[in-house]
Amino acid sequence: MIKINENYLKLQDSYLFSTIAKKVADFQAKNPDKKIIKLGIGDVTLPIAPKIIEAIHKATDEMAKKETFKGYGPEQGYDFLREKIVEWDYKKRGISIEKEEIFISDGAKCDTGNIQELFSTDNIIAITDPVYPVYLDSNVMAGRTGFFDKNTGKFEKVVYMPATAENNFEPELPKEKVDMLYLCFPNNPTGTVLNKEQLTKWVKYAKENGSIIFFDSAYEAYISEENVPHSIYEIEGAKEVAIEFRSFSKTAGFTGVRCAYAVVPKELKVGEVSLNALWNRRQCTKFNGVPYITQKAAEAVYTEEGQKQIKENIAYYMENARIIREGLEKSGYTVYGGKNAPYIWLKVPEGMTSWEFFDKLLEEKNIVGTPGSGFGPSGEGYFRLTAFGSRENTIEAINRIIK
Ligand code: MLT
Repeated sequence: MIKINENYLKLQDSYLFSTIAKKVADFQAKNPDKKIIKLGIGDVTLPIAPKIIEAIHKATDEMAKKETFKGYGPEQGYDFLREKIVEWDYKKRGISIEKEEIFISDGAKCDTGNIQELFSTDNIIAITDPVYPVYLDSNVMAGRTGFFDKNTGKFEKVVYMPATAENNFEPELPKEKVDMLYLCFPNNPTGTVLNKEQLTKWVKYAKENGSIIFFDSAYEAYISEENVPHSIYEIEGAKEVAIEFRSFSKTAGFTGVRCAYAVVPKELKVGEVSLNALWNRRQCTKFNGVPYITQKAAEAVYTEEGQKQIKENIAYYMENARIIREGLEKSGYTVYGGKNAPYIWLKVPEGMTSWEFFDKLLEEKNIVGTPGSGFGPSGEGYFRLTAFGSRENTIEAINRIIK
């Protein structure tokens, strides 16, 4: 008889944001007259910038003509986009990346979930705790994580690196030797960042221990402070130990358009094996590239006008973040993040769990957030709100909480 991949049975029944969506839908069905404000999943609400829309229209017209129609594109992405990324995201910051090191994809979620396929299931992984659930779940599916202990909420073969108020959200380097390290900065969910000196320690650790860092910088466009690296490659030697993931989702409002990229440097090797070549092999086999129209849309991000327009949208969300942060602080909450990231991480009132706070906020204030424990055991006692709502809803949500 056919056997299933039993590792899937070790996962929680439902993905965090699906569980929340179901709870909210049930509540709305029972209370159809209530206006629910959703500050849960980090999904953008502003329309795509005009310069990008213009490029989408133009590319659509090209698809309508025999002379300019495009079928399959290169699995790695079109050169026109890869070259712009090299120029705008790296060269302008003094980082040298080659276009062959850039792999265009349909999302950082897919890339960060798929990358583990290149590595043996014997490797030990380390994740920060709390963490974006995809890193852990994709390793659970692959059978890398061992037995799940219900009492601790942890997997046997995973090294958890707590990032809480106690350590100022700077996770400690693992005491043991780990092989695959997941870092996300600006951090989802806590909204906190590491400065250059702090990130340097991780690169050094990876070099000394022969580990690889998966660096998710999907939120780099939200960094407002100096000395906060936008790319791990700002740290010397990082190209020998790190793969970086970037996304247009939060940078340019592409959550529904779908475009991202991974940087796999040529220097990055395990023994004699080039990870760039391996990822290329994987993508060519399992992926047929991002639509031409989407890549043309992404290309428009890298124009003066495109940059100006996306920065206006980012500034709008960061003003929401300020409103949430200051509003919550005034009402006596302890609040983190929201300065270099669109997430606000707050301490739930004493004596409540994250899920209890979620239910209370939904039932009494009709506001949706994300319970910290959904991101890992050390997220217990915390709660995440996103700054991606409309201004009107953000203000109303804060007013409801203050009341
Ligand atoms: C989140 O809310 O954490 C993000 O929207 C999830 C994602 O980017 O997939």
